[in-house]
Amino acid sequence: MSQAVTDPVKFWAEQAEAIVWDKPWDTVLDESDAPFYRWFTGGRLNTCYNALDRHVEAGRGQQPALIWDSPVSGQTATYTYAELTDAVARLAGALRAAGVEQGDRVVIYMPMVPEAAMAMLACARIGAIHSVVFGGFAAPELAKRIDDAEPALILSASCGIEPSGVVDYKGLLDRALSLATHPVKKCLILQREKQRCALDPEKDQDWVEAVAAAEPVDCVPVDATHPLYILYTSGTTGRPKGIVRDHGGHAVALQWTMRNIYNVEPGEVMFTASDIGWVVGHSYIVYGPLINGSTTVMYEGKPVGTPDASAFWRVISQYKAKAFFTAPTALRAIRKDDSDGQWIGHYDLSSLKAFFLAGERSDPDSVRWAERLLGVPVYDHWWQTETGWAISGYSAGIEALPVKIGSAGKPMPGYDVQALDEDGTPLPAGELGNIAIKLPLPPGTMAALWRDRERHRESYLTQYPGYYLSGDSGIVDQDGYVHIMSRIDDVINVAGHRLSTGGMEEVLSDHPDVAEAAVFGVRDATKGQLPMGLIVTNSSFNGDEQALVKELIQRVRDQIGPVAAFKQCVVVPRLPKTRSGKTLRGTLRSMANQDEWTMPATIDDPTILEEIAAVFDRLNPRAADQPPHA
Ligand code: COA
Ligand code: AMP
Repeated sequence: MSQAVTDPVKFWAEQAEAIVWDKPWDTVLDESDAPFYRWFTGGRLNTCYNALDRHVEAGRGQQPALIWDSPVSGQTATYTYAELTDAVARLAGALRAAGVEQGDRVVIYMPMVPEAAMAMLACARIGAIHSVVFGGFAAPELAKRIDDAEPALILSASCGIEPSGVVDYKGLLDRALSLATHPVKKCLILQREKQRCALDPEKDQDWVEAVAAAEPVDCVPVDATHPLYILYTSGTTGRPKGIVRDHGGHAVALQWTMRNIYNVEPGEVMFTASDIGWVVGHSYIVYGPLINGSTTVMYEGKPVGTPDASAFWRVISQYKAKAFFTAPTALRAIRKDDSDGQWIGHYDLSSLKAFFLAGERSDPDSVRWAERLLGVPVYDHWWQTETGWAISGYSAGIEALPVKIGSAGKPMPGYDVQALDEDGTPLPAGELGNIAIKLPLPPGTMAALWRDRERHRESYLTQYPGYYLSGDSGIVDQDGYVHIMSRIDDVINVAGHRLSTGGMEEVLSDHPDVAEAAVFGVRDATKGQLPMGLIVTNSSFNGDEQALVKELIQRVRDQIGPVAAFKQCVVVPRLPKTRSGKTLRGTLRSMANQDEWTMPATIDDPTILEEIAAVFDRLNPRAADQPPHA
């Protein structure tokens, strides 16, 4: 694997042989526009062909490609490779008939139904660029993404089904369209029986009717560097970053990971419990397993409560999954409801060979719990929307690297991971620093930020020339294992969902009664982190503080979405600032978490922290037992 760093061109050219190309590449690693690198330039291929048609041609037509299991709707469905190929080809025909051309963007705002995966593949089939928006985001967030991606068409559904009730996707979509400035002329809407919706004859078309009327279309070969998708992720501000993934490098990298990281062969089953709105869902609910000729399980439900903490074990056992992948938060939720693991014993889990965790730091207790009760290795691996696949982890298919609990394994091929100090000097093993990756990144990682080259450069490539700045801090230990500790920016991770505190602050500050606001993440036993907001009211404000807080909580829910789980907000007299005016969020976070904290040397007015400590003491009396500051 070290060849991927010492001779990446040879390593990745060999891996690329596993993909079907319409035209071979001219250059494996194109450095002509460094530090923006491109892979397999000159090559032409189609990702949908590699994910579907080629497997039918190779005799896998009758093998299940996608199994859908939806406890929230009480439905299941299985699509063979032949059936999925046909459904995708027809949907691609419907997109064409609606005027979608190669290079056009298509926004997909859908719940976890098979049609959502078909939508992604149908776009790929005709060279359209999909942008899936997670259903837990509210209309204004969807509107931001519509305005940035400027889609020719939107694919959506009448509703989603959450344990707390039916989510009116069509209502949210219509509201987003009324907020967006980019005009969207056409929407294809999937009617779900749980809650049908009215269609606007000017703009909306019924999904089933459109597909029935369409002719199936063939895969269109595109350049290896042609964008396959844009996936928006949170940055430090409320403006999301559109991560662009290409066709060629992505297909090559995911193909490699399926066998080598996940140890899943063609014909075997992978169950990834995530959502297609996140990168994990893109890579391991849809593209990875299908490119590999495996069977993917798509699950519409929660780890607990749909109906209970046995849900994942039932799915693994029922469909004989060999690899299972979820977020640590889901594992913690299961453990909370079933601490003895009683449910695990109810199912035959002999098919399961490995359990993969990512999305946030795995807490060692939960990892040990799962290892003990499941009797299979539990692999934490670290990755980001930007990279599309694991930066560090364990190659279950190649070598039996011992698991080091608390770490996220060792760098994967092509990633030269280093902990750097503020000046960019590599730190000795075991010292905490900013985690950076030496350029070039391997294939399948971000090709660009959608139409924003300068932000790409500034966010990732400027602080340490020659490196990609990951945004995470951590350690590379003496054995080469990577330990990811926390973000170095204002991004937080709530139940495995990446969110911008800056975005929440913008919503709070927009309120006419709010002078300023600070939002930071506080520890939570299940969700890992939860946002907490501190606000300072305008001097003219003389209303009811509790009513204002309630209104602000609702505002964040309406403008960012329920997924932000913004429920803690308090009024404080002032915010602590440095002398240069920067809010001391790190200190606030430590105080709220009841960690030890020191008075920052740069603080403008130290008395503010005493005032805030008093507010936290009132909120959580345990804080009073501890010294106010060390
Ligand atoms: N569409 C609409 N609303 C959604 C949604 C979706 N796709 N997903 C979540 N929401 C809503 C939920 O209904 C909930 O709303 P509520 O405040 O009205 O109850 C809110 O967003 C928060 O949802 P969630 O984060 O799922 O919290 P939860 O308390 O319902 O469940 C867990 C907690 C831990 C079970 C759940 O967060 C989980 O399974 N997380 C795993 C995340 C994951 O897979 N991440 C991908 C990275 S690998
Ligand atoms: P996302 O882009 O939504 O996948 O979120 C990526 C971020 O989640 C990373 O930058 C990390 O902060 C965090 N993350 C993902 N996987 C891990 C992991 N295995 N350990 C620690 N943090 C992780």
